[in-house]
Amino acid sequence: MGGEEEPVSHSVDVNVPSVARMYDWLLGGTDNYAADEDACLQLLRIVPTTRALALNNRLFLQRVVHTLATEYGIRQFLDHGSGLPTQDNVHQVAQRVDSDARVVYIDNDPLVLAHGRTLLDQNDRTTVIQAEMTDTDGIFEHPDVRRLIEFKAPVAALFVSVLHCIPDEDDPAGMIERVASRLVPGSIMVVCQLVSEHRHIRDSVTEFMAQSTNGSWGRVREPREVDAYFIGKEILEPGLVEVSRWRPDTEVRPRQGRDPEWIEYGGVARLR
Ligand SMILES: C[S@@+](CC[C@H](N)C(=O)[O-])C[C@H]1O[C@@H](n2cnc3c(N)ncnc32)[C@H](O)[C@@H]1O
Repeated sequence: MGGEEEPVSHSVDVNVPSVARMYDWLLGGTDNYAADEDACLQLLRIVPTTRALALNNRLFLQRVVHTLATEYGIRQFLDHGSGLPTQDNVHQVAQRVDSDARVVYIDNDPLVLAHGRTLLDQNDRTTVIQAEMTDTDGIFEHPDVRRLIEFKAPVAALFVSVLHCIPDEDDPAGMIERVASRLVPGSIMVVCQLVSEHRHIRDSVTEFMAQSTNGSWGRVREPREVDAYFIGKEILEPGLVEVSRWRPDTEVRPRQGRDPEWIEYGGVARLR
């Protein structure tokens, strides 16, 4: 799909829940339909702490981007599986630090493209492209990516709360390595995904989400499988953690409690 301006391959089906719209509902957004809400309500019966989880994840994303911009000098972001625009999106956080920061949003949900284009009409340092995040060649060759991103300088590749959408046969670890191999030393990989220590939760949520989203889902994994994504990389402090524990700020935030059914787990690595 590289080189095509709008590689739209799916249309919006309001009757089939989408991961992007369900996540929007969990965050309290309005870009979702009855089917998304129904699916979320069913999901909350299996994993009741999921709204706090979604909020924790979004706050993690914002803290990471702010930290990378202020402490690591990162000015370019490739946000894989960016989701529907909500408050304090990556470009807003990064451009508050430096108005020249560049952000490419990548998502396969057609609604993300539509809403993103509207939001970004006035911002020529940010773009949104509709693509499969596993299509690394297509993404890196996309004209908007080539226009905005200077690949001789460090880039932060974000994979925040997305790898559970990628089934094993699509090789999420291979995707991360492909992207890492194209970035210069000093670049950053941010990776987290849904994990659970409880086998029955991994199995039941994976089955529920695969059925609900018509197969647009991968797998709830174990923490050690996320650890494996980071092998050979320089993991930044505080290491791989439940994401609300990644450099928490001083504000009081909702937490999932002591023994949540599932968590977002991961961290940040610098490429050598
Ligand atoms: C849970 S949301 C995470 C949004 C954002 N990264 C965040 O953490 O706030 C997952 C997003 O990944 C997108 N997604 C899922 N599979 C994808 C794929 N194969 N290619 C591109 N985007 C995908 C979904 O459409 C959704 O917007």
